[in-house]
Amino acid sequence: MHYYIITGASRGLGKALAEAVLRQSNTSVIGVSRHATIEHARYHHQPLDLSDMLAVQNNLHKVVPRWPDAESITLINNAAVLGEIGYLGEHQNEHFEFVFDVNVVAPAMLMNTFLSAYGGLTIPRTILNISSGAAQRAVDGWGAYSASKAALDALTRTAQKEQDLRGSNIRIRSLAPGILDTTMQEHIRHADAHSFSEAAKFRAFHAESKLAKPDEVAEKIVAWLQRPARVGEDVVLRVDTL
Ligand SMILES: NC(=O)c1ccc[n+]([C@@H]2O[C@H](COP(=O)([O-])OP(=O)(O)OC[C@H]3O[C@@H](n4cnc5c(N)ncnc54)[C@H](OP(=O)(O)O)[C@@H]3O)[C@@H](O)[C@H]2O)c1
Repeated sequence: MHYYIITGASRGLGKALAEAVLRQSNTSVIGVSRHATIEHARYHHQPLDLSDMLAVQNNLHKVVPRWPDAESITLINNAAVLGEIGYLGEHQNEHFEFVFDVNVVAPAMLMNTFLSAYGGLTIPRTILNISSGAAQRAVDGWGAYSASKAALDALTRTAQKEQDLRGSNIRIRSLAPGILDTTMQEHIRHADAHSFSEAAKFRAFHAESKLAKPDEVAEKIVAWLQRPARVGEDVVLRVDTL
């Protein structure tokens, strides 16, 4: 059985990834999010609020069980929040903690738990962290989100270097998935130009049907995950280079 642990599996890209995996036989998915929206014989849901660090600490072991029949195990850290769109100086201080907890601290704990649980196995193991193009450029109004995704990229690079030094043969990547037609984009379209100078541009992406379909992007990501890594493949990737 090929096992997948996918956070944020209730909607958007995470749900599309889980469904793409489940369309294949011999796969099993544990989805982690607050809401459960997938019903499938090979889908198990773990309700968890990734902004509640105590709950994360207490429940992480449930999503990395022993799987004696595992032929491969893949963790996809997909869940993320943009948080309130606005400039530094105009936020509640709690905003930064919230965005970093969901986007960096919870994924880091999941990576840590995954590597601790499965580091000694010899089957193929992969961690994929869903990042964003915003990690690489300044986007006004998205400070915490951009910084959290840059941190996730840095964590990915470090973890891959460590696993290479250990010779564990575990593949760890981060991936910017492009601009997708999901709830996160709806949130972005509702921002005003005072808090986000690119608001009109993002509304135009939607009006001109330039947003990628989560199902199509998910199929591409799953096909890439199931191919052997290219020699010299970058650790921090963009979907258009897969
Ligand atoms: N959409 C884009 O254009 C775009 C662009 C670049 C990168 N990305 C990245 O792609 C990934 C997926 O984004 P998306 O657009 O699919 O987002 P989305 O539609 O907003 O879905 C977010 C998912 O994360 C889960 N989630 C949010 N807060 C959570 C919490 N506190 N605890 C547990 N789960 C939580 C949600 O589940 P519940 O609400 O059920 O908890 C949901 O399943 C994210 O990492 C995002 O940063 C998206």
